[in-house]
Amino acid sequence: MHRFLDLADFSRDEIIALIDLARHLEQRPEPRALAGRILGLVFFNPSLRTLASFQAGMARLGGTSFVITPGQGTWQLETQLGAVMNGATAEHVREGIPVLASYCDALGIRAFAEGKDLARDLAETQFQAMAEIVDKPLINLESAMNHPCQSLADWKTMDDLAVPRGGKLVLSWVQHPRALPLAVPAATVHMAAMRGMEVVVLRPEGYALPAAIMEKARAAASSAGGSVRESANRAEALAGAHVLYAKEWGSTEHYGNAEADARLRENLSDWCVIPEWFTGADADCKFMHCLPVRRNVAVADAVLDSSRSIVRREAYNRMTAQMAVLHRMLS
Ligand code: CP
Repeated sequence: MHRFLDLADFSRDEIIALIDLARHLEQRPEPRALAGRILGLVFFNPSLRTLASFQAGMARLGGTSFVITPGQGTWQLETQLGAVMNGATAEHVREGIPVLASYCDALGIRAFAEGKDLARDLAETQFQAMAEIVDKPLINLESAMNHPCQSLADWKTMDDLAVPRGGKLVLSWVQHPRALPLAVPAATVHMAAMRGMEVVVLRPEGYALPAAIMEKARAAASSAGGSVRESANRAEALAGAHVLYAKEWGSTEHYGNAEADARLRENLSDWCVIPEWFTGADADCKFMHCLPVRRNVAVADAVLDSSRSIVRREAYNRMTAQMAVLHRMLS
């Protein structure tokens, strides 16, 4: 494996084989598998899980890693092509990223959406510009429209807990004080479709996912035997659900317009998951969220602290799933 950028670059069987490898490494640790190997991690945006789970996973396989957070103890990196660099940025990614790649055996990059131009973010313009100049194995640590490491961990988490591969997953928009990127909802809807699930995107008006994301998920669903649709009706969407996956994202109708988005979400405080949401769901319906999450804004304490919540297992599986990726890439 040379790149891990998008689950869609792999067949369903290849993803299942990666999850099998993750489980194998959990049961039979290989503490020398990546001895002498170095992973570089570049974070243009903050992280808790991605940063710690990659470093821990690499160490558990006998390798080592370094972390760069541009502008925090290192030069601030310019990402815009053609920029006149007479401001805060001291170095361009066109030099900085290949230099970092030259020090390691694989590189991971986190670069969130710019959040101004939907078409530009859908095209992964910023991430692609860096991917093109990396000649080493490359891992997407979350880009504008994707978070494949989260999705791999979520797929494994559902398998671990025997959530049926053909079960029903409801991806629900939930409240947040400001617009957040579309990476996790886009990756989740695709992952669940690829897993063969009945996927419902539950969201208020103004928060429909972009057509390109829904079409990509529908294509995955059609080859895996699943389905993808949208709904604004909570009771109908959640009826019989095996998983409620909550996520915050910005209005696609007002993409890049923070004020219009804020006005739209002003009256949506009831989009905070409470125990009553599960009334018509499967009795064993799980609650998922990629974390970080704002308690009692997006999800009530009573849900996060209940036995339905598997958020900590998802976070743990970031490490186990990524160890399989690193092992396949570098061993
Ligand atoms: N879910 C996730 O990617 O967490 P971090 O932003 O903390 O890495």
